[in-house]
Amino acid sequence: MPLEVELVLGPRRSADRFLVFGAPAIEEAEIQEVVASLRSGWLGTGPKVARFENDFRAYKGAAHAVAVNSCTAALHLSMLAAELEPGDEVLTTALTFCSTVNAILHAGATPVLVDIDPLTMNIDPQQVRARISPRTRALIPVHFAGRPCEMDPLCELAKRHQLRLIEDCAHAIETEYGGHKSGTFGDFGCFSFYVTKNVITGEGGMILTGGEKDANRLKILALHGMSADAWKRFGDEGYKHYYVVEAGFKYNMMDLQAAIGIHQLQRVEANWRRRQQIWQRYNQAFADLPLKLPAEPAADTRHAFHLYTILVESRAGISRDHFLEAMTAHHIGVGVHYLSLPEHPYYQKRFGWQPEDYPQAMRIGRSTVSLPLSARLSDSDVDDVIFAVRDILCGRRAGG
Ligand SMILES: Cc1ncc(COP(=O)(O)O)c(C=O)c1O
Repeated sequence: MPLEVELVLGPRRSADRFLVFGAPAIEEAEIQEVVASLRSGWLGTGPKVARFENDFRAYKGAAHAVAVNSCTAALHLSMLAAELEPGDEVLTTALTFCSTVNAILHAGATPVLVDIDPLTMNIDPQQVRARISPRTRALIPVHFAGRPCEMDPLCELAKRHQLRLIEDCAHAIETEYGGHKSGTFGDFGCFSFYVTKNVITGEGGMILTGGEKDANRLKILALHGMSADAWKRFGDEGYKHYYVVEAGFKYNMMDLQAAIGIHQLQRVEANWRRRQQIWQRYNQAFADLPLKLPAEPAADTRHAFHLYTILVESRAGISRDHFLEAMTAHHIGVGVHYLSLPEHPYYQKRFGWQPEDYPQAMRIGRSTVSLPLSARLSDSDVDDVIFAVRDILCGRRAGG
């Protein structure tokens, strides 16, 4: 049942101009490349995927990159390549998308949640230390909203306890910590190119790894377990036999998707600068409001500016869910990243997780709202978001 909301000044945008949350900035180059793929007759995995892998690998300064069809697939395959066994425990944050934990389950391991640092909203290294048991085999830090996790203590713990380190970089393409790029700290770095992400292919993902053996295994696992380069079997060199060497998955990326990603990647830094501007504009425009704004990026780090999250707590004078409803009434799309994982009935039933046991993730999950932060936003779109937030909270016209 929808909540009742009252707008003080009424919406600035009309309903037919609803601002879709996370709509990506697509340009003519992507459109033409997709059309060229369609005309070429080669739509599936092929040379454009190989080029996108190589471009992404070069951008991140990694040894190997393997394209897949989602970050969920990237996480799943990384855990298989890490050779986790049933009963092995994998530590991750209580404030992440469900797929981080579902991938652990599909790899046959046991997820163990860790609460977050309330300032950074990232996994708290002190609590990671407390949760390590003799069965812990892997650690999955998630660079939440694009802000890097504290990789020094996390890498130190992983090394001391011989944990496989798999970074969930779904929000964190441009992220850096201490001069090092996200996704290159541990065994595997997993990226998402889902439609709302900083680089998009529609659906899509990438795995970075330092090991050639791991990269080859990931490629095989991503395409049914067929021997390497099986995707070339219908190419212009004539039919090639393939051999199934293990039971793999259908996780390969298509050339149609890579056609988008190749051009998106060329604008990754320009889009990052645009999101940084919008971020700063929101910071100024909301400074006097009864809201908690995102913390400043820490020194010697690079924030990817993927999500701009505000906390709507009791001092705002409106509940979080009423605030969401009011933004919709202003025809502005918003998101929630995320209700903490222990809020979900499946995990409660299976693992007995309770939100109260992860109090910081619970509190933030119940008060957070993500505002639009796409490079596609015009200045006037940003003005509309600011107007809506100020109208809901104090009925005043947008400043900043
Ligand atoms: C933190 C995090 N991990 C993993 C994923 C899964 O990404 P994908 O949709 O590409 O599978 C997402 C997607 O939103 C995410 O936000």
